This record gives sequence, structure tokens and C-alpha cells, in this order.
Amino acid sequence: MTKDTDCGLLRKTDAGKTVTLSGWVHRRRDHGGLIFVDLRDRSGIVQVVFDPETSKENFSQAEKLRSEFCVQIKGEVSIRPEGLQNKDLGTGEIEVKAKELTILSTSQALPFALDTRTDVDESVRLSYRYLDLRRPELQNNFILRHRITKAVRDFLDAEGFLEVETPMLTKSTPEGARDYLVPSRVNPGTFYALPQSPQIFKQLLMVSGFEKYFQIAKCFRDEDLRKDRQPEFTQIDMEMSFVDEKDIQDLVEKMFVYLFDTVLDIQLTTPFPRMTYKEAMSRYGSDKPDTRFGMELIDLSDIVKDCNFKVFSGTVANGGQVKAICVEGCADYTRKQLDDLTLLAQELGAKGLAWMLIKEEIKSPIAKFFTEEELDAIIERTGAKQGDLLLFVADQKETVAAVLGRLRLDLAAELGLIPEDKMNFLWVVDFPLLEWSKEDNRFVAVHHPFTAPKDEDFDKDPHNAVAKAYDLVLNGVELGGGSIRIHDAKMQSKLFSVLGISEEEAEEKFGFLLKAFKFGPPPHGGIAFGLDRMIWLLAGAESIRDVIAFPKTQKAVCLLTDAPSAVSPKQLKELHISSTVKKKV
Ligand code: AMO
Ligand code: AMP
Repeated sequence: MTKDTDCGLLRKTDAGKTVTLSGWVHRRRDHGGLIFVDLRDRSGIVQVVFDPETSKENFSQAEKLRSEFCVQIKGEVSIRPEGLQNKDLGTGEIEVKAKELTILSTSQALPFALDTRTDVDESVRLSYRYLDLRRPELQNNFILRHRITKAVRDFLDAEGFLEVETPMLTKSTPEGARDYLVPSRVNPGTFYALPQSPQIFKQLLMVSGFEKYFQIAKCFRDEDLRKDRQPEFTQIDMEMSFVDEKDIQDLVEKMFVYLFDTVLDIQLTTPFPRMTYKEAMSRYGSDKPDTRFGMELIDLSDIVKDCNFKVFSGTVANGGQVKAICVEGCADYTRKQLDDLTLLAQELGAKGLAWMLIKEEIKSPIAKFFTEEELDAIIERTGAKQGDLLLFVADQKETVAAVLGRLRLDLAAELGLIPEDKMNFLWVVDFPLLEWSKEDNRFVAVHHPFTAPKDEDFDKDPHNAVAKAYDLVLNGVELGGGSIRIHDAKMQSKLFSVLGISEEEAEEKFGFLLKAFKFGPPPHGGIAFGLDRMIWLLAGAESIRDVIAFPKTQKAVCLLTDAPSAVSPKQLKELHISSTVKKKV
């Protein structure tokens, strides 16, 4: 190798040693006849000194060095003179006195500086991703990602899991997003779908008797991208036979305890708290509540049901609800701030946002509609103190949850109420099996159509049945979700019929799975975690893109390679495809 030592690992105890280092010029400074180079490799940075007294030739070579030249340096480790130590740097007590310099390759002027996290436009960073990835903060994310992935493999291996790969060119799977399609050249007019998850295959592996499966699996979903979503992402995907919900949750908790202990040196307490979906929606307005702070949604429907404010009483009479959040210490909010909150509430679907500033007297345009007793009861129920702000939404329960749930998160972030050092894991359990889709005008599976309902529930009232499904939430982010699956063919066809999926459609889409279930399928269940999301949270990275080596933009474009891009007419012809889009000019 052109190096025998890592830059960042040199310490005082190495003083006197002659070392060969290879890396990049992080920074070069000229100082009163000496040249200082911060030399960087993956392990970190060390200061190298060029002195014309040691070698004139080296010194004049060093004068040519620019940022990100790739160099090899031989030199002697020496203790820095008193007062010149750098406490912020692991190698800050020593420096390397250069004796030989070889320029391995030069670099053009950089499109952006690597030594500071400045406001470089992300699109520039992404088009030069290989340079962006040289930055230590980003490299640290990938070191963490590697360690977590390795620890997952170690843990699951020790628990008797088999890692099995499943196909990328496959049939549409049921996660409910849009598929990425791949045309088949050999079979004109037909398409593979890239998997949205290995869901069906892992269930088939259970039928095959694998009992404990896992895979670090690539998944593809053509959906609207948000800050925690990528079109291709990675799951830690698991499936087990002969288990119930508790078995899977216990194993997952054990895995997280192991990961946090070995990789992060953080001791987690188990069992993780559990909350039903209903309670989460009612208290936090979200199925992935951030429980690191309070500001819960408080139901006031019973107090205001007969009040003179018709918006409130009318909503309750129509089967809706009136809820409030208490924003501590915000009674001095200006009219402009309150108008902005109202605007946001309306964008989120509310008809309006009512407010009360709790001062000596209650200041609010709607206070006059309430009796003393009603106001007292509101103050008591919400626990509002002098100096607080109450925000109210009256609507159907879904809208109330969506609006107040979001205001709660936004306000807490703005007011600095979220303790950054907490790790609040939470199981959200007892999800509904089905939900009404306005878009499709029919019931759809909340999780996917192989999720088992609680046995007693389904026969009584399938539309309101609770599913054997669970999500793991960390600090308000859904890390993963899974369920116990249906393994009984009769139950599966009952569910399909409730979902309005005809026998023909079921046969066409999932026939191979239904057939497999005729050959002694074991009871089974599983879960999948978003690996990118997990690393994003654990690294405290700004964006999910910071933990994916070559990510895509919000518009699903790779700025480095320019994918997706046009292809030649010949390629299209071979694939029996023609495009309806006129050529871009
Ligand atoms: P689900 O669809 O809930 O379940 O996905 C599991 C986890 O994958 C992550 N995730 C994503 N991460 C980044 N970008 C995306 N576009 C994206 N979509 C999902 C989330 C999510 O919790 N087969 C089932 C699991 C099972 O039932 O075993 C499934 O895929 O962290
Ligand atoms: P209005 O009577 O329409 O002038 O509304 C009086 C106040 O109630 C305004 O601050 C509105 O923003 C608010 N408001 C209107 N509709 C609702 C609603 N559905 N929920 C909460 N507040 C509302």
C-alpha cells in the first residue's frame, strides 16, 4: 500500500516514528516560511509541516498543493510545540514533519468547499456526489450505516435467521404505492414490476419451511416523495413462522437493545411502551406520535356541545368533535402569528382555527359566546395557565387529528420543546384492518391484504375489525411496520370479498400465493424496518439523502448520472415499446 498509517489515528505516543501517509489535502496554509497541510483520509485529519530547511525540493512541491490533491507523504511524527496544540482534533497534540512528498493526482478547483457545511445548494452537492461524500460528516453516516447493518446480520444470524435474496424483476406486490415497471424484451407486451417490498416472497419462504427469514432488501415505490421517503430505499425485512404478535415484538426489542448497545453504547429499557392506534390518534392526532413532549389534543366536545358558538355546538351535533391544544407561554402571540397559524390550519383542511389568549382576562374573539362555567371548564380540562395559548379546531375527527396533530409538532419544534437526546420508542398496536378510500370509493387494507384480523372481530363486523398489525415508532418517525398474516385460505377469500377484490382479480394478482397456501402453510408473521430512516434518525442527519450514497431528488432524479434519461429508438423497439412523449427540445 502507499500508506502504512491512518492519518486520524496518530497520537502523542507515536512521536519519533517515521510514517507513510496517503490522503487528500484538506487545507493548505502558508505561514512565515512554513507550509501547513491538513492531510485527510477516512480516519480523520493530521497536520503535516513542510520546512524548506528539511528539503527545498519538497517545499517547492508543497507550494503547488491545492485543495483535494491526492498525495503521499513520508515524515516523522513529532509533538507540537507548547501552545500550538489543537484540542478539537484527535491528532491535535502532534504533527508530521514531511520528508518526502509525492503528488499522486491533482484536482481541479472545487465546485464547493468541503471543509465547511456551508449553504451549498444541495443540487450542486448531488451532481458532485463523490466530492460531497468526502466530507467527514457524510462519511460518518456511512460508517454508522455499515455498523448497524452488520450488527443486524450478526444478531439475526445468532437468532437462527437465514438471509435469503428475493427477485427484483417480479410481479406487482401489494404495498399500495405505484409500481416501477420493466418491459420484457423476450415476452413482448409484458412487464416486470420492481418489488415494493419482498412481502409475498417472504411469505412463500415460510410455506417452504424456512421458519426465520431476513433480508436487507432494496424496495421500489413510485410515490410522491417527502422528506423521509425515497423512490428506492432499503428495508430490514423479517418473517417468522409459528409466532404471534408478542413473539415478533419481543425479538425486535431484543434486536434494538443489541444494536443500540453494540453500535451506539446506549442502553435501552424494554419492553417498549405500547399504545393503541385509537389512543394515538385521539391524544396526538397521529399514528406515529412523538411522545418526547406533551401538548396533547384535549377533547372538549362534551363541554361545548350546547354553547352559543354555533361552529362548535353545530359540529358536535353533526357527529364531529371540538379539540384543543394548550401552547404554554404563548399568550403574547401577535395577531399576525395567529393569522399565520389559522392559514396553516386551513391549508391542512380545517375550516378555521379558534384561539384564546389566557391573560388576566381571556382574550379571544369567541370568548363572548361562552358562559363563565363553560370557560372555567375549558380552562380546567386543558390545564391552561395564565400566559398560555389555546388553539381549537372543530371538525370531523380525522380533520381535527390531522390539523391539531400537525400544529402540535410545528409549534413544539418552533418553541424548542422537543428534547433532542431522548429516544422514545413506541409500539402502535391494534390498527384497524380496513379503511374507507374516498379516492377508490371502497374499503382498502390499511396495511396490506394479507394482514390477519383479530379472530373474534372479523366475523362480527369486518369493516370495523382490528388487525394483528403493529408499527414501531421512534421519536415520531415510523421506523417499521408488520403484522401476523392470514394463512387460512377461507379467511383470505373472505377478506378479498370485503375488499371488493373479485376471485378473478385475486387469482390474477396473487394466485400463486393463494395456491401455495393450499399446501400446509404455517402460521406466520413479520415486520420490516426502513433502514435509511433508521440511520437518518440515529445519525441526526438533516435529510434522508444524507445516509444514502447516491440518492434521488424530490423529483426522483439522480443528478449525478442524470437518470432517468431518454433511450435510443432501437432500444425501445427491442422492448416493443413506444413513447407517447414528444422528444424534448
Ligand atoms: P411498510 O410499507 O410499512 O411495510 O414499509 C416498512 C418500512 O419501510 C420504510 N419505508 C420507506 N423508507 C424510505 N422511503 C420510502 N419510500 C419508504 N416506504 C416505506 C418505513 C416503513 O415503516 N411488507 C411490509 C412489512 C411487513 O408487513 O412485514 C412493508 O413493506 O420505515
Ligand atoms: P367566524 O364565526 O367564522 O368569524 O369564526 C370565528 C373564529 O372561529 C375564527 O377565528 C375562525 O377561524 C374560527 N373557526 C371557524 N371555523 C372553525 C372551526 N371549524 N374550528 C375552529 N375554529 C373555527
